[in-house]
Amino acid sequence: MIPQEVNMAKVKTTFFCQNCGSQYAKWQGQCTSCKEWNTIAEEVIQKPEKSDWKTPSSTTKRTSRPLKINEIDTSQEARLNMQDAEFNRVLGGGMVHGSLTLLGGEPGIGKSTLLLQIALKLQYKTLYVSGEESQKQIKMRAERINSKSSNCYILTETKTQNIFKQIEKLQPDIVVIDSIQTLHSDYIESSAGSISQIKECTTELIKFAKETATPVLLIGHITKDGHIAGPKILEHMVDTVLQFEGDRNHVFRILRANKNRFGSTNELGIYEMQGSGLREVSNPSEILISEKDGELSGNAVAATLEGLRPLMIEVQALVSTAVYGTPQRSATGFNAKRLNMLLAVLEKRAGFRLGAKDVFLNITGGITVDDPAIDLAVVASILSSNEDVALPSDYCFAAEVGLSGEIRPVQRVEQRILEAEKLGFSTIFVSKYNKIALKNTSIKIQLISKIEDLVGYLV
Ligand code: TYD
Ligand code: MG
Repeated sequence: MIPQEVNMAKVKTTFFCQNCGSQYAKWQGQCTSCKEWNTIAEEVIQKPEKSDWKTPSSTTKRTSRPLKINEIDTSQEARLNMQDAEFNRVLGGGMVHGSLTLLGGEPGIGKSTLLLQIALKLQYKTLYVSGEESQKQIKMRAERINSKSSNCYILTETKTQNIFKQIEKLQPDIVVIDSIQTLHSDYIESSAGSISQIKECTTELIKFAKETATPVLLIGHITKDGHIAGPKILEHMVDTVLQFEGDRNHVFRILRANKNRFGSTNELGIYEMQGSGLREVSNPSEILISEKDGELSGNAVAATLEGLRPLMIEVQALVSTAVYGTPQRSATGFNAKRLNMLLAVLEKRAGFRLGAKDVFLNITGGITVDDPAIDLAVVASILSSNEDVALPSDYCFAAEVGLSGEIRPVQRVEQRILEAEKLGFSTIFVSKYNKIALKNTSIKIQLISKIEDLVGYLV
């Protein structure tokens, strides 16, 4: 009896929800916090007394004391220049000392390429730790990127304790970890990539970053529904969460900040994947121009927000004379009732006879949009198709349309305008009632108050 109890006491296990990271003392079928079924799994954890990034002998125990806010010295908080204009912009002007930045993105999108390329360009002493590729493979990648640097060190290691040993020897200015899901710590028994390992390794890295003021860049995998793999807590723990996205079949990649403790999340960086690494795209209108072969009627671009992030979406409409008695109305990615409402407004307020016309509406890219700010682009695309007049391809729209044909303001219009400007649009149509505090924008902001005003500009 007794030895068995001793054995049992040695192996400590806890149950974690693999979806949201909640911790439970025993197994249950449904996670009470995220309501998912069958996501709770047992993980072995073992917490010995020390889980410090340094061995206790080398650490002089520092305890912090409260300081008056104006006593805190920020003079050495100057940011590290990452030698990459797009990356610096997204971070809010460079990397902050002692910060943890997480870079997420789909497999093969170019996360390792981006961070290796940055590591190779830096003048600071950089340690690039890879748990995924061997030193030779990384060297081959570095040769493709074709950057000459002697200040970047490559380490292939997955155990955090060994990584910290090397860090102590090398004393790097910046540490890159590729990826957090491949790391494991001796203090936890469960396998690399499990919730408890990710939590423990991140805690150790945060402790290291804050105590030595060394910035750490982490690469994180994402799950098939687009979230960073591992517990949501990972995103809470780090200072900055960046997302690298784009279509793998297209060459353009977009870097966004989903969370940034030291800057805004409105900035985005654009890159082009080339045979020799990622090129910074400083003039994004080249993307739009390269994709267009002439102007087509029925197309209009909306400046929408997807969650917190601005997104430019193309709306396509086809208006044709109905062959059968009852005209067809169909919408893909847009609410059909809302389409009928907008058609009624166009008929009643702007005098377009659409009652006997078939109207088909499509949001390109297979996206569904709930943002009411897309209304004006829908109306513009219908007008354009009805009159068979193409809209200038550098026009975009962001406003809601009311029942009496009034153009209503939308939330966070400045963010939309800045996104449109960044993407190279020349003119954005917004409601006259939006309060816009922007100055010195290169994009023309066309204020309109009624649907008739729009007709005047377009047709
Ligand atoms: P990678 O950085 O390995 O992606 P991740 O770490 O996000 O999984 O990127 C791999 C892709 O990038 C691969 O499909 C090849 C492409 N690539 C280039 O097109 N040019 C290059 O110079 C490099 C290094 C990669
Ligand atoms: Mg990789």
